[in-house]
Amino acid sequence: MAIKITWYGHACFLVDTGEARILIDPFITGNPQSPVKADDVAADHILVSHGHADHLGDAVDIAKRTGATVISNFEIQTWVSNQGVQNAHPLHIGGGYNFPWGRVKLTIAHHGSALPDGSYGGNPCGFLLYIQGKKIYHACDTGLFYDMKLIGEEGIDLAILPIGDNFTMGPDDALRAVNLIQPAKVIPIHYNTFDVIKQDPNAWAERVKAETSAEPIVMKPGESIQL
Ligand code: NI
Ligand code: MN
Repeated sequence: MAIKITWYGHACFLVDTGEARILIDPFITGNPQSPVKADDVAADHILVSHGHADHLGDAVDIAKRTGATVISNFEIQTWVSNQGVQNAHPLHIGGGYNFPWGRVKLTIAHHGSALPDGSYGGNPCGFLLYIQGKKIYHACDTGLFYDMKLIGEEGIDLAILPIGDNFTMGPDDALRAVNLIQPAKVIPIHYNTFDVIKQDPNAWAERVKAETSAEPIVMKPGESIQL
């Protein structure tokens, strides 16, 4: 069956494989774009890219309520376990693991990763998901890096890239990222949540069409696509 991918605004997605529901960077409470409430979100696995509040978000509360397994780097896995999360799986950059529904590999990301209480969150990461023969790259929060070319060599069906500028790549560098990765499709994220990351995603999508070989998909919060 097709993979259903729903955007909850900012960097948060729900990936429904039919077998499992994978929630990524669940910043829901306090996210002005979120179409859902943290109490209503279902998840079997929760991926957390780094410790900042707009990514860790409601991960601990949702994991406690649902019993979902948190997948993150070792430092964040340890931290959420200390917060009372029962199920958590540690990975680290360059490493992947085959879960029953697919594989998750952590990629590099150039960013910070302090946890809400100031604890060290290890290195921030992006995610490569291998599900039912499809490859999805969620860059999470990062600046442009040339090794995106290596990620692209895997043959990416869908790239999810920040375009907001200020904290991450802006539109120009995100366009260069598309040309390094050469994904079939690309979704822009991490814009318009806050005033300092205001961008026009449709203008960016026009540039993607003109200057890259990828198909841009501009989503509305709450909207789903099939892959
Ligand atoms: Ni961040
Ligand atoms: Mn962020």
